[in-house]
Amino acid sequence: MKICVIGQGYIGLPTALLFSKNDCEVIGVDLNTEIITKLSQGQITIEEDGLQQLLDQVINNNYTPTTTPEEADAYIITVPTPYHKENYECDLGYVKTACESIMPYLKKGNTIIIESTIAPLSMKNQIKPLFEKAGYNIGTDIYLSHCPERVLPGNIIHELINNNRIIGGITKECANKAAQIYQTFVKGNIIKTSAEIAEMSKCMENTYRDVNIALANELVKVCDKIGINALEVIQTANQHPRVNLHNPGPGVGGHCLAIDPYFIYALAPTEADIIKASRDTNSNMPQFVANKVRKLVEKGQTITILGIAYKGNSDDDRESPSYSIINELEKDYDIKIHDPHIPEKSIKYQEAIKDSSLILILTAHNEFKTLNYEELIKNMKKPIIFDTCNILPLNEVPTELTAYNYGNINKIN
Ligand SMILES: NC(=O)c1ccc[n+]([C@@H]2O[C@H](COP(=O)([O-])OP(=O)(O)OC[C@H]3O[C@@H](n4cnc5c(N)ncnc54)[C@H](O)[C@@H]3O)[C@@H](O)[C@H]2O)c1
Repeated sequence: MKICVIGQGYIGLPTALLFSKNDCEVIGVDLNTEIITKLSQGQITIEEDGLQQLLDQVINNNYTPTTTPEEADAYIITVPTPYHKENYECDLGYVKTACESIMPYLKKGNTIIIESTIAPLSMKNQIKPLFEKAGYNIGTDIYLSHCPERVLPGNIIHELINNNRIIGGITKECANKAAQIYQTFVKGNIIKTSAEIAEMSKCMENTYRDVNIALANELVKVCDKIGINALEVIQTANQHPRVNLHNPGPGVGGHCLAIDPYFIYALAPTEADIIKASRDTNSNMPQFVANKVRKLVEKGQTITILGIAYKGNSDDDRESPSYSIINELEKDYDIKIHDPHIPEKSIKYQEAIKDSSLILILTAHNEFKTLNYEELIKNMKKPIIFDTCNILPLNEVPTELTAYNYGNINKIN
């Protein structure tokens, strides 16, 4: 089987490589020539465990990176889906352009799969008509499905293989055809359903996580106000067999949780008030963090930011709350940034901590879980840590260092 994967980013590249490894001939298409050049030279373009080894196995074999689509049996579209800032609607611009780009190569019998996360009813109202306008009957001439992706960055390859996979067909036959394709390597359950159930299910999965993180963040604010340790509350409450309070943090970033809930909100703004309130709570966390920092550090001092990726052990900084916090603090402080996963946007650790008056941890990278406290005491101007990811055990911090996390932030006043 020959598969053309449009978009070679965080989702498209691992997907393309797994199909190649499983004996499909794969064309990996991306408009970004820098990505294609690097991939052609055998170098991966994103940080992801096991991805380089996978590329090594298939690059001179049955995986070809290129900038233009080709004739194939199946097309899988994995391009970005941002939202329109003015009305929160899903921006289908990239997906529609990608669909148009494959039109000249389409043949009867082809399967087309949209993996990009899209707003409910996008397939029926916007994607399907594109192919019908080109003269195809969906479900008999060509087979169109929405198969959303649910992988966890950092564990993408394992999850691509083992997660249950939703197959949302425009018709039953469309779902059957798409299911056959994923059966090449997916070991999880293949769940066939309609396109709109798949769309809404994917958006709601991310909304569920966003709302629960907002609840944990709100708990932190309440506990800050009344002087209770929020982290101990979470630990204690989670011993209830049916309670799973999430981890609070400096805000929510990334390509999924910080965006997809808006797709639902835009379709039903009056009804989706919990969804919007949760988005607002999470979007306001950077301001909450910045306000606390202002109480800790006098204007004009140096602050060290540890982490600009939105997620621990990842190099992905899209929609990262770190940037909102940095923008806010830059008004009053000298900001030094260190992120070992994004060296091109940061400085070396030793340089970043020198003469600093605060270490502000914004990403739960493993490198930040075991800081050398003696080194901090020796090199900082004022040895203070504010850990918004709650990754440092405060009871192990020496007394010469003052450390805060969301368990004791009420002491910052
Ligand atoms: N990253 C994740 O963890 C994740 C998880 C689940 C779902 N998703 C969804 O998957 C989709 C893709 O996300 P991503 O993180 O892989 O994005 P990405 O930005 O990493 O990759 C998308 C790639 O598509 C390319 N592209 C854009 N238009 C193109 C076109 N017309 N032809 C060829 N290439 C084109 C871009 O250059 C880019 O390299 C989004 O809808 C996202 O919401 C992402």
